[in-house]
Amino acid sequence: MNVPKDHAGDRWAGIAFVVSALASLVLTIVYVFGGQPQLEGALLGVALGGLAVGVALVAKHMLPEGGEVQERGPLFVDEEDRREVLSAFGRGRPVARRRFLARAFGGAIAALGLATVFPIRSLGERPGRLLFHTMWRTGSRMVTENGDLVRATDLTVGGVLTVFPQGHERAADSQTLLLRLPLDVQAPGPPDVTDDGLCAFSKICTHAGCPVGLYQASTQELFCPCHQSIFDVRAGAEPTAGPATRPLPQLPLEVDAEGYVVAKDDYPEPVGPGFWNRGRD
Ligand code: FES
Repeated sequence: MNVPKDHAGDRWAGIAFVVSALASLVLTIVYVFGGQPQLEGALLGVALGGLAVGVALVAKHMLPEGGEVQERGPLFVDEEDRREVLSAFGRGRPVARRRFLARAFGGAIAALGLATVFPIRSLGERPGRLLFHTMWRTGSRMVTENGDLVRATDLTVGGVLTVFPQGHERAADSQTLLLRLPLDVQAPGPPDVTDDGLCAFSKICTHAGCPVGLYQASTQELFCPCHQSIFDVRAGAEPTAGPATRPLPQLPLEVDAEGYVVAKDDYPEPVGPGFWNRGRD
């Protein structure tokens, strides 16, 4: 087919839109079948580049050619100027294959839109209510990270132990500090403490989630080494210094008939950083 030279730009613009659309579709297919970051980046570049080239070519060939000089004059538009402007635009060459170009452009935009919707899947599964619960359940026995059951007598006064629910020794959100307080602990004391002085708090700092790793028995304070938050155990692990603003959640516990320390329930509130500082519905 013999294409006039003037219309070659329209044809190339259409080709650019088609290439862009194809690149977007291939990008979608590559993503759906497992993805390959370098290839996806290259295809996205072709898709956007094709659109840019197509739009640039259409603009270049639609605009009137040649320079236009307008003398600065009085700030009013007379009829003669208006006619001159209109006739200048009239000198622009009409676009050939207007329908083809419009469809190619629309196809390129639609395909790119499709390709950009799929990566939403990469955000992962919805967490649902998972983040509001840990693996602690009513009657969960406490074990060390090695899976050894914890008896009430295993801790001396002033001692601290990191414990997990039995069978879930790798559950990071369930890591808990079991403390043994002196029986003459000053008022008000933590709200849930056994007759033996045992109480337990989440080990996950409510500021940014670091493990609260240090316990000073003489002042009954827990320290988070990340940003130096301090939690007063006697006041229910209320933060008294540092950036944390929420107390460490306390795990309700008791000692069963065989002397093992067990949880009475899950934590009554979400553990971890303050984003979860809200109820469970
Ligand atoms: S994470 Fe504990 S103070 Fe920041």
